[in-house]
Amino acid sequence: MPRKKLIAANWKMYKTPDEAKDFVKAFIPLVAGNKHADIVLCASPSLLPTVVEAARNNPIRVSAQDMHWLDQGAYTGETSPLMLKALGVTHVLIGHSERRQYFNETDESVNLKLKAALAHGLVPIVCVGEMLAERESNQTGEVLVRQTSIALSGIEPSAAAPIVIAYEPVWAIGTGRTATPQMADEAHKIIRAQVAKSLSPEVADGMRILYGGSVKPDNTGSLCACPDIDGALVGGASLDAKSFASIVANSAA
Ligand code: PGA
Repeated sequence: MPRKKLIAANWKMYKTPDEAKDFVKAFIPLVAGNKHADIVLCASPSLLPTVVEAARNNPIRVSAQDMHWLDQGAYTGETSPLMLKALGVTHVLIGHSERRQYFNETDESVNLKLKAALAHGLVPIVCVGEMLAERESNQTGEVLVRQTSIALSGIEPSAAAPIVIAYEPVWAIGTGRTATPQMADEAHKIIRAQVAKSLSPEVADGMRILYGGSVKPDNTGSLCACPDIDGALVGGASLDAKSFASIVANSAA
């Protein structure tokens, strides 16, 4: 069965509730004809109730950008899976490179969060990707295998169907420097092979692997035409409704 495309906006630490509401209002009619892609908006916790409400009765799903793996506890500043579920959030980003770089996210905490997301029925979008120095020293494959295998460790193949992986080379994030479709497709093949090894070939075949890193309306088509690229995780170019709607439209391969 062909994998349905998934296009996710990662708004990072941008937008006020009013701006988020205006975005959704402007965006809904622009993607009214979309059938080929699932659309997800990943927003700051402070925006989630507003975005869930604005997207109600529309096929647009709402995602957190991170969460803790425990249901509750004395963890100041954190958000739990229970809280996200109660808000109507359906997806959660896990292990974004900015979390890994600036907030001590480790492969092990990614694994705990992934298990918690599955246990709570949240769709995890797990981010992996190499740093520039790792690519330049030919360690890309090794890094992707390590990040993917630890993320998936201890997960039952029968529970893994909802998992989405996003390949985001760190050197391409917010830099305007995109991986070529060939580079991205190669990395996606490495990740898919590791999913087959960690879980099963069937799970790997059905798993959506997104590309992220300076995705724009004009490079979406060539990236999404690659057989192993199943959509995009979009930062900067997702902040504007028209630009993000063009990315959704251009992802139809
Ligand atoms: P970018 O960010 O599209 O601005 O490069 C992508 C991401 O960090 O998810």
